[in-house]
Amino acid sequence: MLNGFRALLLAALLAPSTLFAQNSTLAATPPMGWNSWNLFAGRVNDADVRAAADAMVSSGMKDAGYIYVNIDDTWQGERDAQGNIQANSKFPDMKALADYVHSKGLKIGIYSGPGAKTCAKYEGSLGHEAQDAKTYAAWGFDYLKYDLCSFRQNMNEQAPNDPAKATQMMKDAYEKMHQALLATGRPIVYSFCQYGWDAVWEWGPGLGANLWRTTGDINPTWDRMTLIGFSQAGLAKYAGPGHWNDPDMLEVGNGKLTLDENRTHMSLWALLAAPLLAGNDLSQMKPETSAILTNREVIAIDQDSLGKQGDRVSEVGPVEIWAKPLKGGAKAIGLFNRDDTALPITLKLSDVGFSGGAKARDIWQAKDLGKLQGTYTATVPRHGVVLLLLTK
Ligand code: GAL
Repeated sequence: MLNGFRALLLAALLAPSTLFAQNSTLAATPPMGWNSWNLFAGRVNDADVRAAADAMVSSGMKDAGYIYVNIDDTWQGERDAQGNIQANSKFPDMKALADYVHSKGLKIGIYSGPGAKTCAKYEGSLGHEAQDAKTYAAWGFDYLKYDLCSFRQNMNEQAPNDPAKATQMMKDAYEKMHQALLATGRPIVYSFCQYGWDAVWEWGPGLGANLWRTTGDINPTWDRMTLIGFSQAGLAKYAGPGHWNDPDMLEVGNGKLTLDENRTHMSLWALLAAPLLAGNDLSQMKPETSAILTNREVIAIDQDSLGKQGDRVSEVGPVEIWAKPLKGGAKAIGLFNRDDTALPITLKLSDVGFSGGAKARDIWQAKDLGKLQGTYTATVPRHGVVLLLLTK
């Protein structure tokens, strides 16, 4: 009897923390995967998604931790007589597609928005939120990107000249889908895409966001990638296990980004504890692209279980130093050169909490640097980075 009572008491005591643990296991570290938009935009079809899943495995991306294969905009067809969303002819059988992706040991993501139409003018979820969430769950989806798009018109029409009301409408719309996803009982990562408006990092996590876009769209250019990446200073405190700032998907391997620019991109996203969603053609990666995307030590910085986002330590002209705390007291440090010529960059160890010196490793060179004291100076190529791991 006493034992029974004790067990009950123990269960009651444990319940809240168990619940919390369950919530935070979804996206406990920043989601990793691939998304169709940067490569295919509106052309993506069933065969492309299967091929991406195949390539995720054969390229070694899966082994490096990339798990989600995410279909972005343009999969949607008409609703049937009962209002159930159907895929269009590019996607003949969503359930079979999800089964296929799962059979590779991967997970699969889908895309919609709170408006009547998505950004590419396909069917949105307005008025069908619960029904759509049920459909995604029945098909077997594990991740939903929910893009504001045409809901902005609803906000403009219903709350003209009333920004507070418009913001509330947006929050209500995101909360509606949050509740709909919860009601399915299926763990579905919930990704907000409303371009960082109204300080979404302050209220997104409370509405169930596992990640939220902090900016407009990235593109595969040095200017756009760095404008987005380096503008993330100050957002670190909003990120943590289960809820992450999302500076948009990776463009590593796309456009004309150079080796150093791609390393800068990957290093910065890892220091930002950003979701790592590749957007390149995984079946045709140059070895240098795959080496960057699958670098285990860089991924370990991004995925560190402490779940702390890094932040800017200093900015002097084109030189920026960023630091990310890691579990066990280590730190990852990025020495970034945004200039068009190589520059020497000096790190003062006391600026990053290692007044007593630190053991250092240059990650991209895969080289231990031994014990450093005082300062460390490296020549950093144009548009390049030296990424260091410092330990006591
Ligand atoms: C944009 C979004 C992109 C992509 C696109 C699809 O609003 O930021 O990441 O999803 O819509 O139409």
